[in-house]
Amino acid sequence: MKRSVRAVYPGSFDPITNGHIYIAERAAAIFDDMRVSILVNPNKTYTFSVEARHAMASEALSHLSNVMVDHFTGLLVDYMRQQEAQVIIRGLRAMSDFEYEFQMALMNRRLAPEIETFFIITDANYSYLSSSAIRDIFQFGGSVKDVVPHCVFRCLRERFPAHPPGGKPHE
Ligand code: PNS
Repeated sequence: MKRSVRAVYPGSFDPITNGHIYIAERAAAIFDDMRVSILVNPNKTYTFSVEARHAMASEALSHLSNVMVDHFTGLLVDYMRQQEAQVIIRGLRAMSDFEYEFQMALMNRRLAPEIETFFIITDANYSYLSSSAIRDIFQFGGSVKDVVPHCVFRCLRERFPAHPPGGKPHE
């Protein structure tokens, strides 16, 4: 009997970028069922509310029929067990990501030895991309149109209507 494997791709997704979408697409081609799960950490301030992050991710991933967007608080491994998910997906952009990801994977394995972390390497075109860079570039008037889906561009314009300060508005 074929066993179905559920994977969770966790993150802040503040906001989701084309780099995240690339990882979700590659994971969705391998795993039967996937959750893209947005962390809500009450000790952290986000640029976008959980509702906005959820809406952007849902629209950006609507072409993937086996992907569902969800959100969680607390420990990832508790959420994984509650969702009956076996695999954590994380994207790797560069060696600089590795140390943090390695620590997190080992910590999660210590907490839940039955859960496996899978790393997917990003597309070379997205190796420099991060949500924080997108927010900064947008706020200071740079173009992010090629690296975020249209729904995120729309939300950035709504969230930062006066940016760039004194500059010409984004198209
Ligand atoms: O996109 P991010 O912000 O790098 O994602 C980090 C995330 C959400 C995967 C990580 O912070 C997480 O899993 N947080 C939940 C709390 C937890 O389980 N911490 C222990 C793992 S070391």
